Amino acid sequence: MKNPYLPMPMRIDHITVETSDGNIKTFTLSFIRDEDRQAFRFIPGQFAEVGVFGKGEAPFGIASSPLETERVAFTVNRVPGGVVTTALHAAGVGDIVSMRGPLGNGFPVRAMEGHDVVIIGGGFAFTILRSLMNYLTHPSNRERYRRIRVVYGAREPGLLLYKDELAAWQRRQDLELTLTVDRCTVADEWTGCVGVVPRIVEEIKPEAANAFAVVCGPPVMIRFTLPVLEKLGFAPERVLLSLEMRMKCGIGMCGRCNVGHKYVCKDGPVFTLAELNALPAEY
Ligand SMILES: Cc1cc2nc3c(=O)[nH]c(=O)nc-3n(C[C@H](O)[C@H](O)[C@H](O)COP(=O)(O)OP(=O)(O)OC[C@H]3O[C@@H](n4cnc5c(N)ncnc54)[C@H](O)[C@@H]3O)c2cc1C
Ligand code: FES
Repeated sequence: MKNPYLPMPMRIDHITVETSDGNIKTFTLSFIRDEDRQAFRFIPGQFAEVGVFGKGEAPFGIASSPLETERVAFTVNRVPGGVVTTALHAAGVGDIVSMRGPLGNGFPVRAMEGHDVVIIGGGFAFTILRSLMNYLTHPSNRERYRRIRVVYGAREPGLLLYKDELAAWQRRQDLELTLTVDRCTVADEWTGCVGVVPRIVEEIKPEAANAFAVVCGPPVMIRFTLPVLEKLGFAPERVLLSLEMRMKCGIGMCGRCNVGHKYVCKDGPVFTLAELNALPAEY
């Protein structure tokens, strides 16, 4: 990235309404300038500031894979009264938005090579886990990682994201995907698990030896999942979490997002549990 304050113009190529309530949409953006397309390289877990002209910008995790270099996707939850998320949801295919990034550190995909990876996600925080999944399972990468197990949950079936990709992952022999919902009705024709994510993790008992766990979801899910991982023997150095603090500059200059002496935008948003345990509980 040449000037981290300078946004790139991006065109909305495609919009997918992800959830039955219409509140979560995935925006696939394409580069307008060829030099931006060539320069934009990232790793899973990084984010970008996406802006709507006249409304401002907001941070969103990159939902597409780094190996997909023509387009960049973001999955956006419309916040009630939220200026940028509401404006994005009102935008249409062909509209121009801005993008500043990539920002933050991302997942340590190199350090994770040669290990099992246990991916645990809940709600719309699954966006960056989709990027990670597509990266790890790409034919050019898959053999670098050992067993890949995924537990992904939502409150109800209609709120699960990326349904086509979930179906494709379920057909694969080289990863184990467990989907769960908190509740469902007969009309949902749900065939997955029913139960909250921490309980499902406790039931499937992923092996901790030689494994990384990546946990992204609502605070309540994280709070109850961490003790389960600890009980299973996961080392805090190999449990990865991504924080979603409020941000402004995204590059460690404004002091808006600090936790103790760390800036979430620059030193994170991905931290190990060991790092977070050493910080004040301000997140
Ligand atoms: C690193 C990072 C990655 C993120 N990734 C995603 C993503 O992939 N998809 C997604 O939908 N959202 C993501 N978010 C959250 C997203 O940035 C906020 O929802 C967005 O900034 C809201 O902007 P807005 O202009 O619509 O709301 P605003 O008009 O700024 O605020 C509306 C209301 O939301 C509250 N609010 C705003 N931001 C936050 C926040 N970060 N935490 C808690 N409350 C907040 C405000 O206090 C206010 O009450 C991410 C945040 C961070 C820091
Ligand atoms: S958002 Fe400005 S320092 Fe992190």
